Amino acid sequence: MNLHRAARLVGVTRGALQKKIQDGDLNSFDGMITLDELQRAFPEATLENNSMLEHVTHIKESAFGRRIMDRTLPDKEVLAARLHDLSKELVETKGLLKHAHNMLDGLTRLLDRPIPHDADATSLAAQLKDWLHTERMHTPPATESARALLIRDNFLRLISAQVKILPSGSDFFVEGNDTLLQAALRAGVSLSYGCSNGTCGKCKARVISGEIKQVRPHEYVISQEQLEQGYALLCSCTAISDVVLDAEVAQTPTEIPEQHINGIVRAIEFPTNEIAVVHIKTPVHERLRFLAGQRAVLTLAGSLSTQLSIASCPCEDRHLEFHIRRMHGNLFSDYVFNGLKSGDVVSIRGPIGNFVLTVASHRPIVFLAFCNGFAAVKSLMEHAMALEQAESIHLLWIATNDSGLYLPGLARAWADALDNFYYLPTLVGGDLEATASRQENVVAKILAPKLLSIPSLARSDIYISGPNLAVESMKKILLTLFVPEDQIYIDSD
Ligand code: FES
Repeated sequence: MNLHRAARLVGVTRGALQKKIQDGDLNSFDGMITLDELQRAFPEATLENNSMLEHVTHIKESAFGRRIMDRTLPDKEVLAARLHDLSKELVETKGLLKHAHNMLDGLTRLLDRPIPHDADATSLAAQLKDWLHTERMHTPPATESARALLIRDNFLRLISAQVKILPSGSDFFVEGNDTLLQAALRAGVSLSYGCSNGTCGKCKARVISGEIKQVRPHEYVISQEQLEQGYALLCSCTAISDVVLDAEVAQTPTEIPEQHINGIVRAIEFPTNEIAVVHIKTPVHERLRFLAGQRAVLTLAGSLSTQLSIASCPCEDRHLEFHIRRMHGNLFSDYVFNGLKSGDVVSIRGPIGNFVLTVASHRPIVFLAFCNGFAAVKSLMEHAMALEQAESIHLLWIATNDSGLYLPGLARAWADALDNFYYLPTLVGGDLEATASRQENVVAKILAPKLLSIPSLARSDIYISGPNLAVESMKKILLTLFVPEDQIYIDSD
């Protein structure tokens, strides 16, 4: 099995598995791991005792909770228990079948042996009978942990399917009734798409192998010839079995075309006096295609424009989120705090910028967010969680005072939910930008000890987001702490 499936099976991240391989604790060949090897490296893995159970519960709930199917299917717990039992039965049957095949091979070898001329048929038959009896009685028992892994593997195959995209090699799991497009975006795989509801045809891709099923209607018509070649709309179909698709995936920000969309303000929240969180919805047939961490230019009231980080995940369909800092005298900021209301039209142009995760890197990640620089980090965190490959993720959220750390609940929720995430809220006092520009040594004095408390700092990929002066002075501090410059990524206002 590949790394992604193996990690799921034992309930660890891909990063943790990769580390074991690098450390020589787990053998892999061509990116594949055998079940025996996995079991040897994780002897304690059990279905009842790791995060997979929670994950499976979540999948069951989101897949069935809101479905009409509830009326016709047994209770979801009953169904899950039956699937588990069937999975167990399948493991036992496969074990017996394997043993029967081994016996047949042994029997063939026995019969191939030359029979002595003076052999007595009765004694030969008796020997054969004895051999068969002994072989039958010696079914090699599978160890408990091996059985548990196999049962879980079958169970996971029932509730999710693995999708591989060629030629990029990206892969992800489809769970519940998610469409292939939804699952890809959730996993941070940027497939081509436009409307997400079967109208534009931009998500059309070819199925190379595996079985898919249409779960949503679509208006877009695929020609008979393309249907016969295996083309389908990824926003309308889900995967029944493991699937390989031929589709283009944007690997870099430059591969995503610029888009112009008029959205509607759905809500404005003020978590503190200094920050406005603006939620915008795109029209029914339009989505903004972007990579986590990128920006967009918003234009309000026809002429007030500014460039902002997109705080939402590309997987959130029509929903876009932006965090705006109160800046007295700034026309855009003043309008957001005093004039903007639900229902207003906002012009959106984007995506812009290349502040995105380096997907190929398996280094630990450190996010350094100054005040509303948190917006970009919020989006990147979703992507980092989906990739599951960073050995650790640290978030240092830096602000002048408490009101600058405006969504502390979210950062704490990440810390509660993820074993490898560490949240370090940091208050510097005074005007952060002014201090950074005039007294870099003061900022360094406050921040350096926090940075040095991150054990993996020098070998991490470091993403810094916030006001220009603060970000630049942070970069200087990091260089003095021996962080290689090519591991520092910057996003600044
Ligand atoms: S995204 Fe438009 S048809 Fe699928």
